[in-house]
Amino acid sequence: MRWLGTVLAVWVGTGVFAAEPTAAVRGKKALESTAFIRGFWPTSAYDTAWKQWGVKEKPADYAAAFRDRYGLHAAPFDNGKYPMGLRKADYLFGQGLAIDCTTCHGGSVLGKSVVGLGNSTLDIESLFGEMYAAAGTPARLPFHSSNARGTNEAGAFSVFLLGFRNDDLTLTLTPRDLDLHDDSCEDVPAWWLLKKKQTMYYTGATDAHSVRSIMQFMMHPLTTPRDFAAAEPTFKDVQAYLLSLEAPKYPLPIDKSLAARGQAVFAENCAKCHGSYGDAPAYPNKVVPLAAIGTDPKRYENITAAFGRAYNASWFAQESGIKPLRETAGYQAPPLDGVWATAPYFHNGSVPTLAGVLNSAARPKVFTRSFRTAEADYDAAKVGWKVTEVPPPDAKLPGIDRRKVYDTTQPGRSNAGHTYGDDLTPDDRHAVVEYLKTL
Ligand code: HEC
Ligand code: HEC
Repeated sequence: MRWLGTVLAVWVGTGVFAAEPTAAVRGKKALESTAFIRGFWPTSAYDTAWKQWGVKEKPADYAAAFRDRYGLHAAPFDNGKYPMGLRKADYLFGQGLAIDCTTCHGGSVLGKSVVGLGNSTLDIESLFGEMYAAAGTPARLPFHSSNARGTNEAGAFSVFLLGFRNDDLTLTLTPRDLDLHDDSCEDVPAWWLLKKKQTMYYTGATDAHSVRSIMQFMMHPLTTPRDFAAAEPTFKDVQAYLLSLEAPKYPLPIDKSLAARGQAVFAENCAKCHGSYGDAPAYPNKVVPLAAIGTDPKRYENITAAFGRAYNASWFAQESGIKPLRETAGYQAPPLDGVWATAPYFHNGSVPTLAGVLNSAARPKVFTRSFRTAEADYDAAKVGWKVTEVPPPDAKLPGIDRRKVYDTTQPGRSNAGHTYGDDLTPDDRHAVVEYLKTL
């Protein structure tokens, strides 16, 4: 009767007897296979983008060259020939390409692509500019989508696009300026932290349980109110998937006794804001006033009451059981699970290593990095990315080169503040960094 076992195994394997997939499993599948918006470009724009690069012929390993140019990563799921973050989508009368959540939320560390890790190498401004040029439809947004490679102006997209919508998300003929600013320089937070949070986004203004809030991504001009309503159940599943994600474990050696010493220093100096970890985890969900935290104020200032009012009046905020946007005093202290993987640090990615987070005097002022993510690019001693200090970039450099230099004297890019590690001894700081690897 061996054949019977085989037949049963095949049936189970194909799902005939399998239980309904859970919401998280459905959400993962949706996230990896659905374009939630119409395409921006014909598929040919991908194949011809290299003509914008100033090279004479198409690079031999084109997929790798394309990823490298824009800071995208190989998809750890089936995505055809495209990198994680570019996806086939309806376009005019055929198929085109759009971005998706993983353009920004698909990162890589130690050479491994990770869905849910912020993409700290992305140059979204070059990706948009050169794909539109390759498509023969050069289009310019009325704001910068990125000022420094690895950061983006996701908030500006929301402010800009909500201005074209009435409260019911129909398009308006009289667009509103909801106070557009494009110098927040936002680093992308890791999705696996969401499950601990009561409030989300950097200022803690938004109810972390909101599904509609993450649907702001769908505000492409061709998305109708009916499309938003139809996609809501899928976004509930996507949220369940985000809530199921776990931080990746630090894969390199850890000095256990040093980490144990660091744990004690952390409990004393850091836990009141960042919570505790291990067997009895706790997360206080604390927002620290701007004047006390002292990190760059732009992200806080750039989303103003004009947007808050419009958002709260709109479909996005009419979600049962969800609190409206609130005004907070500053930035939320994030959980630190998997923090070894999420460099650079602070909401604006202004500090490349944990050693710098803990010692404000040791933070580099103007620096660049390889924007690759292999072990050779990773600084296991300071924990974060290896950087090289350079002079401020020439304003006449092409944007793609200028954005590779992070200049902390520029708006939105201050690396000041969060001086909580400054008074620790060098030994204690070293121990805390070792402890942070274990989270
Ligand atoms: C253009 C880049 C970009 C894209 C595309 C994008 N995000 Fe984000 N996302 C961000 C940035 C930047 C933040 C931080 C925003 C802030 O607080 O200022 C963020 C924040 C979030 C957060 C809150 C995390 C936290 O802990 O505070 C969630 C959840 C999220 N995004 C989900 C999504 C989903 C789902 C999609 C696709 C439907 C998506 N994002 C598409 C850039 C992006
Ligand atoms: C008074 C509250 C407070 C204390 C105390 C505090 N932090 Fe923070 N921490 C914050 C806030 C708020 C942020 C976010 C700042 C920002 O992004 O602008 C932050 C950010 C961080 C980050 C960057 C996280 C990321 O992903 O970008 C790390 C790492 C960190 N803190 C570690 C520590 C350590 C270690 C200590 C103890 C030596 C400590 N913090 C003490 C409030 C605090």
